Amino acid sequence: MGKVIAITNQKGGVGKTTTALNVGVGLSNSGKKILMIDMDPQANLTSASGFKNQTFARTIFDVLGGRAELLDSVAIRDGIEIVPSSIALSGAESELSSTPGREFLLKEAIQPAKEQYDCIILDCAPTLGLLTWNALIAADEVIVPIQAEYLPLEGVKYLVQTVELVKKRFNSNLEIAGVVVTLFDSRQNLQREVVESVRGYFQQKLFNTFIRKNVALAEAPSFGQDIYSYRPESPGALDYFNLCQEIVERRIV
Ligand SMILES: Nc1ncnc2c1ncn2[C@@H]1O[C@H](COP(=O)(O)OP(=O)(O)O)[C@@H](O)[C@H]1O
Ligand SMILES: [Mg+2]
Repeated sequence: MGKVIAITNQKGGVGKTTTALNVGVGLSNSGKKILMIDMDPQANLTSASGFKNQTFARTIFDVLGGRAELLDSVAIRDGIEIVPSSIALSGAESELSSTPGREFLLKEAIQPAKEQYDCIILDCAPTLGLLTWNALIAADEVIVPIQAEYLPLEGVKYLVQTVELVKKRFNSNLEIAGVVVTLFDSRQNLQREVVESVRGYFQQKLFNTFIRKNVALAEAPSFGQDIYSYRPESPGALDYFNLCQEIVERRIV
């Protein structure tokens, strides 16, 4: 059975989508069968995967609304398999508000895919609303990207409480598999201090690999490419390669 990993942090701009894509493709390059699901109405993962300005017959919105099967909604390009999103997903909260069991729609829809993939990666929106609840209830593991800046821990503690709540009420399997420092700049002393407080809080759950700030990672999405295709020699490609290795070594996937 494939593992379902939610990449979550309710803060925007911390590297969730960059991590979802480059962990997804990195694990796929190492021989795993990977499905990515874009759970964000901003559809950044969809466009960063090279599907810019494309209209899809089916998106994750149709899957959650019960109009399409998840496995019929997979878009494939250069070995990347993704269930795309679109801005229509921003209507999910209101469309599904009176659907019984609305927090369980993804969990139900994802079941057949768990038999066909080694790992399913969920790129979450920067909110803790219905879409992220669906992701946390469907997931086995959570990976939290954290940008080492001033006081990231306040919001992260709230996320940890939410994970604990989902675990207690709905999904006893759920675990925070790891926390990854992103957009890291070792020249800034403040970042080092913040990293130490993140390490104090998460202990061994903090991945040894830090994702450094790297311009190639910022450029790649506008070319619709993962970092290994866009700049295979870049620090970004090396960091995400190392993170994937750590994910495998820690038996998260
Ligand atoms: N390590 C990095 N170095 C430089 N730019 C990055 C890095 N990680 C992400 N970015 C850029 O920062 C922005 C936010 O990243 P993104 O992955 O979209 O965050 P989120 O999904 O959490 O909102 C994007 O423009 C992305 O290209
Ligand atoms: Mg994102």
